[in-house]
Amino acid sequence: MPDTITKLAYQAFQQGKSYFGLAHKTVSTQVMQTVSPPRHLQTSPMDLKVLQMLQQRMSALLETDWQDAEAGVYPKELLFDNPWDDFFRFYPLVCLDLPKIWDRLNKRDYQTFADDIDTTGYPQYYLQNFHHQTDGYLSDMSANLYDLQVEILFNGTADPMRRRVLAPLKQGLAEAGFGAGAKVLDVACGTGRTLSMLRDALPKASLYGVDLSPTYLRKANENLMAKPGVLPQLIQANGENLPFVDDYFEGAVSVFLFHELPPAARQNVINEMYRVVKPGGTVVLCDSIQRLDSPEFEVAMENFPQMFHEPYYRHYTTDDLNQRLSDAGFEAVSNQVHFMSKYWVCRKPAAV
Ligand SMILES: C[S@@+](CC[C@H](N)C(=O)[O-])C[C@H]1O[C@@H](n2cnc3c(N)ncnc32)[C@H](O)[C@@H]1O
Repeated sequence: MPDTITKLAYQAFQQGKSYFGLAHKTVSTQVMQTVSPPRHLQTSPMDLKVLQMLQQRMSALLETDWQDAEAGVYPKELLFDNPWDDFFRFYPLVCLDLPKIWDRLNKRDYQTFADDIDTTGYPQYYLQNFHHQTDGYLSDMSANLYDLQVEILFNGTADPMRRRVLAPLKQGLAEAGFGAGAKVLDVACGTGRTLSMLRDALPKASLYGVDLSPTYLRKANENLMAKPGVLPQLIQANGENLPFVDDYFEGAVSVFLFHELPPAARQNVINEMYRVVKPGGTVVLCDSIQRLDSPEFEVAMENFPQMFHEPYYRHYTTDDLNQRLSDAGFEAVSNQVHFMSKYWVCRKPAAV
């Protein structure tokens, strides 16, 4: 397909996802206001100027996504990757789950798990119904619905935001002279979407993913098995205590984890990423924007933890992760912001 047509197709694909996300949220909010009006929500409306800025940032994100594919950071097919089977199987269940979510929101009931879920052994901060999700991160159903829920939340931009870790990671690996067979770790890999992108962008790399959730790892395994390529190694572990020897990986990433950690755990994960990465290795973190760099989206950052149960988010938005990375020993810490996401790129100093 000629490039202009491919680009138009990509824009149309993203536009479709964006309209779908907006339509879902508009309809579900109206139904919620009618059948289960929220008693405690104190969100503020966003003014038109902020909405326009968000729209511009979203367009810029998609343009960067296209440019990186054009530059060969990853194949263009990745731009169209979408779990269609899951969409048709699980979208009805996403809708059916909404009344339970509204009920939890109204009852401020944030730590409820089905009786058959064993919650022993997890850190206390993790035992939450993050985003009011049924069973938090601890059931197969939660793992099946998660990707769709995130796509709806971000109007179809979750994957373009995840893909922004690929260019700085590849650049860091190349600059350090690490070969195509580098070992790369994804901390809190969830259902494996970033690992799948890493596999497409670095087809010869040895990939590893850790996550605390056994059910999300099972889903990651299912997702990664469904496509060609070497299967990444998936290990159930706490990012605060990684089960790897020192200096093992040439690179490591983590996507959308840090806003779900209390402050001390954020530092512990960063320290562990430093420990397991080789001298000269690159680490790239991706998470939400922060008040520090995006004060213009203050209202969105205020509303988010109210609408979606996110107990550590407010502190996260003011947490200086550059300082945390430097404290751990990383150097050359730099930042990028794309739409609603922020990135930290850094390097473990080369051995003396
Ligand atoms: C918001 S999800 C992000 C998942 C995935 N990276 C993505 O891009 O969708 C947060 C993930 O972090 C995992 N998680 C939370 N705390 C963790 C910890 N201390 N160690 C390892 N994984 C953790 C959860 O199980 C969940 O899969």
